[in-house]
Amino acid sequence: MKILVTGGLGFIGSHAVVELLEENYEVVVIDDLSNSSADVVDKIKQITGKDFDFIEADVCDLDVLEKIFTDHKIDAVIHFAGYKAVGESVKEPIMYYENNLVSTLHLCKKMLEHNCNKFIFSSSATVYGDPEKLPITEDCKVGGTTNPYGTTKLMIERILADIHVAHPEFTAIILRYFNPIGAHKSGLIGEKPNGIPNNLMPYIVRVASGELEILSVFGDDYDTPDGTGVRDYIHVVDLAKGHLSALKKALKDEGLFYYNLGTGNGYSVLDLVKNFEKVNNVKVPYKIVDRRPGDIASCYADPTKALKELGWKAELGIEDMMRDSYNFILKQKQ
Ligand code: UFG
Repeated sequence: MKILVTGGLGFIGSHAVVELLEENYEVVVIDDLSNSSADVVDKIKQITGKDFDFIEADVCDLDVLEKIFTDHKIDAVIHFAGYKAVGESVKEPIMYYENNLVSTLHLCKKMLEHNCNKFIFSSSATVYGDPEKLPITEDCKVGGTTNPYGTTKLMIERILADIHVAHPEFTAIILRYFNPIGAHKSGLIGEKPNGIPNNLMPYIVRVASGELEILSVFGDDYDTPDGTGVRDYIHVVDLAKGHLSALKKALKDEGLFYYNLGTGNGYSVLDLVKNFEKVNNVKVPYKIVDRRPGDIASCYADPTKALKELGWKAELGIEDMMRDSYNFILKQKQ
């Protein structure tokens, strides 16, 4: 069974490639290294002891896609590639819409031409906007995204639904991620954002390791137990395993399916800071500042549909997430 993984050297993609290789799938990765580095190829091989094909190219490139689908008999595609920085998307909307939408359209076009009908898509809880209820179930209203990045996810979900109507054999599984953190326990692969991180966990690890001075906590007057924002943090290895479960369903069943990939537990910003300090025995200085525009108070999943239909649930806890996130950063410094 041969799987094409776009963005397979990125944070979530690389962990998914590890899981695929460990379950003996053949893997072809396409990644343009725009937010990843080529050394991840060797790291994945080191972790798994297995080989895979890597093509350095842009998923928007139709000629490259044509060659991949001609050279390989691809059974399914897992599509991670995409720009994902919320703030940058507000400044560069054309770049975000062009890259995220064109890559997906070109991929689906080539898949249909080559009779490859199984598609797993990296969507996001961001499609729920300010959620109509908590915990969030898959039938909650979508829309109300607050930035172009989030809107690309919403639009791609819509595009996939339309393709499925026109081509019922085109099976798409849409995975709505909550907040992925953590890293592989080897410390060889993890999240390496360029520049100053926007997301909470990469910022915390850099403050703890002394690279950044102090964490700004964006608001302590939300309607949450301690006033700071609540999110459903999920270990990236659990998330990667969710893709394997989705892949098995896609290979077996025809249809269009949506699943939340979260743990169902909400942690506040200060919960995370306290857990991180306790697990890693290190201080994380912080100050409370104004709310960040576009943020919502709380967001956490009801993950029961994924358990029922995919047989998947998150196994790793907050301590694993804290330990593995820090371990990765410490390993980078060695
Ligand atoms: N936060 C801080 N300080 C920081 C960074 C974040 O206090 O320096 C807070 C935020 O206000 C929020 C929480 O930490 O309450 C989590 O923020 P992140 O930026 O880590 O994550 P978000 O929930 O804002 O966004 C993430 C992904 C998006 C995705 C969204 C889905 O980054 O890609 O979850 O809900 F769309």
